[in-house]
Amino acid sequence: MSKIIVVDPFDYVVVGGTGDLARRKLFPALFHRELDGQLPDQARIIGVARSELSDAEFVTQVEAALREFVPEKDLDADTLKRFLGRFAYMPNNAFTVDGYRALKDKLDEHPDRVRVIYLATPPSLFGPISAFLAEVGLNGPKDRLVLEKPLGHDLPSSQEINAAVAEAFDESQVYRIDHYLGKESVQNLMALRFGNVLFESIWSKAVVDHVQITVAEDIGAGDRATYYSKSGALRDMVQNHLAQLLCLTAMEAPASMDADSVRDEKLKVLRALRPFSAEDFQLNVIRGQYQAGSVDGEAVPGYADELGEPTRTETYVALKTFVDNWRWAGVPFYLRTGKRLPIRSSEIVVHFKAIPHSIFRPVTTDEVVPNRLVIRLQPDEGVSLRLMTKDPGPGGMRLRAASLDLSFKDEFELERFPDAYERLLLDVVRGNRTLFMRRDELEAAWAWMTPVLDHWTETEKGTEPYAAGSWGPDAAAEMMRRDGRSWHEDMK
Ligand code: BG6
Repeated sequence: MSKIIVVDPFDYVVVGGTGDLARRKLFPALFHRELDGQLPDQARIIGVARSELSDAEFVTQVEAALREFVPEKDLDADTLKRFLGRFAYMPNNAFTVDGYRALKDKLDEHPDRVRVIYLATPPSLFGPISAFLAEVGLNGPKDRLVLEKPLGHDLPSSQEINAAVAEAFDESQVYRIDHYLGKESVQNLMALRFGNVLFESIWSKAVVDHVQITVAEDIGAGDRATYYSKSGALRDMVQNHLAQLLCLTAMEAPASMDADSVRDEKLKVLRALRPFSAEDFQLNVIRGQYQAGSVDGEAVPGYADELGEPTRTETYVALKTFVDNWRWAGVPFYLRTGKRLPIRSSEIVVHFKAIPHSIFRPVTTDEVVPNRLVIRLQPDEGVSLRLMTKDPGPGGMRLRAASLDLSFKDEFELERFPDAYERLLLDVVRGNRTLFMRRDELEAAWAWMTPVLDHWTETEKGTEPYAAGSWGPDAAAEMMRRDGRSWHEDMK
């Protein structure tokens, strides 16, 4: 049973309160926490944006967003009324200090509360807004600043943003969101690894052949085509979400779940990632772009058509990397992500080594499928372990592969998985930074990826085409073939 602990009274300020992120994710997430009874009576939510709106007009917008993004069965009338009653709105020109003075006055009505200021704005505003907040005194011990990705577009730009924010806020007040860390199944990865004695001894080069991390999406860039054209899959997904999954898979056991213990271990993984060589740029970093095709039986346009112009932006990346340390020396980690793949499915697959010798003659070692642990992150969250078993019945000693399956939904009789933002938004109020990225971690991830981005820019590297609805460009399959391996594709 989940346990609901009401958090301390807070004021949550969402700068960019009329934007897409607030409407789609932040307000629906807070609504679900309201539904679960986790918000204290006094808590307020204050939207800040440029439009001149009254409180009532803003509340109407919030209600419309909830009706669009919260399942109807959850929109209980009393809860909705209570929730909407928490909202206020403050128009603010992001480029002047006056609006922040008014905000400070409003927040000072309750000086003892935790104050969260969530910047759901373009990252170019993180530095200037932080400076205004500091100027009006909204950077005190009770103030916490939440930053959304993208935090820069390469290492220098990310350093610049972090440095500007650091002028105004102490690192302990800054919460950098990577929403993948808030996913139940991603946290479960830590439970699985560090709550069971079984895995530790097999979690290394001695037994693991290679690891595959896939985040596949069936959606395209859609109405975000313009944002996406400046970003691409490497910046949008690999530098953050996939890198975080890699860290949680490869890291050593932290001394505790304390924020810095966990983040120290993740940082060590990022720093151990092998820099890409000239050969890797040719063979082991694949950059693709979807063309017209069909997903789930429906014809869909190519990315360049959606954007309305030819583009070199990648919608798919596959790469091979190594964590150069004692535990993982020589074990390849294959990462891939793409839009307009056949299905939405994210998983981490640990492929174990083959048995060294078969005692089951005439069964040869080739017929004994190596063990495989599949950690399904979404949808259909769960874990399955592929084992060899005896094919039942007469006919001699024949072996067959079978799975031990754990489906979280069935096992725990869950109606729904909380959205990642639900946990993360309240972790800020609780002051728990374990699931947020520290500055050095973020910069280490950029340091790993920036040479790839620079190489693409310098060489004007194009993209490999793949049909929407396929598993990506041939070059990605070829990369695996060269290594005598293949992508795990019997995903649910
Ligand atoms: C976001 C990316 O961070 O993650 C999107 O900007 C992507 O492009 C999304 O679609 C995927 O998140 P999820 O939670 O749906 O796997």
